[in-house]
Amino acid sequence: MLRPIQGLFSSEDYPDLLVGIGQPDDASVWRLDDERALVITTDFFTPVVDNPYDYGAIAAANALSDVYAMGGAPFLALNIAALPPDLPTEISAEIFRGGAEKALEAGVVIAGGHTVQDKEPKYGLVVLGFVHPERLISKSGARVGDILVLTKPLGFGTVATALKSNLADPEDVDEAVRWMKRLNKTAAQIAVACGVRGGTDVTGFSLIGHAMEIAEASELGLRFDYKKIPFTSGAKKYAADWVFPGGSFDNQAYYGKQVRFKPEIDEPSRILLYDPQTSGGLLLAVPSEKIDDFLDQAAAQDQPAWVIGEAVAGQGIEIRS
Ligand code: CO
Ligand code: CO
Repeated sequence: MLRPIQGLFSSEDYPDLLVGIGQPDDASVWRLDDERALVITTDFFTPVVDNPYDYGAIAAANALSDVYAMGGAPFLALNIAALPPDLPTEISAEIFRGGAEKALEAGVVIAGGHTVQDKEPKYGLVVLGFVHPERLISKSGARVGDILVLTKPLGFGTVATALKSNLADPEDVDEAVRWMKRLNKTAAQIAVACGVRGGTDVTGFSLIGHAMEIAEASELGLRFDYKKIPFTSGAKKYAADWVFPGGSFDNQAYYGKQVRFKPEIDEPSRILLYDPQTSGGLLLAVPSEKIDDFLDQAAAQDQPAWVIGEAVAGQGIEIRS
């Protein structure tokens, strides 16, 4: 996640740079020929859960997700790690095993990597994938009338914060971990098959922040129905007790002015939409004539998908109750 650096490395100077730093998206895209473009991305972060294997798997699923969010298929990856010198090797081995088994599940080869020493552990991947240059999914590809689909529930940040404060029920943590470990592979494949051109994955900037990126890049507004938005089991319970990660309030401060909530939506419910996600789902703008096909394919392939709103003329975000 980067803000643009103006003027350098523009697509005018590099015509094959289809998506670069001047047009921030989930990954960079470089055209090789008429049928193939490379998708490249990297992501790494500090532990979000206690179990080192799960942490590795989540970090890998999250890094791979930025290729899926572009409609791409990842095939090659490198490990990036920063580990404390006194971390037991059984722990670091579990982190790498979690990442490797997730890559294997994705059909991705981990071909190398680099590790440095640091006080706080960090792990993630560099990921390389392919996409057809004309079937790219980008933040600028949504159109008025598109149906908004989300492929994982929200609330991972709130549940992880409850865990850190020793307030979380183990079942709630297990549920959030299962979602965070889940690949966005099938969701991306169905999206490409249905001709989806607008979308992103929901990560640190929350549903609202990433939705705003789509709204701005696609020059339209997004309307959501609160009651249709899915949350993990624990999220609403912890939100009612005002357990939120600091990032929720940062997101609210940054994006809040562009959001219009129906007055009956209470404050904890609002803040949940600013919940930073780790390895969240895809937010897809599905052409309305394709939505039945999309949902049929999702059901047939055991891919969760929730219709939560639509793209409308205008700007900003409206949340109906
Ligand atoms: Co990213
Ligand atoms: Co992303």
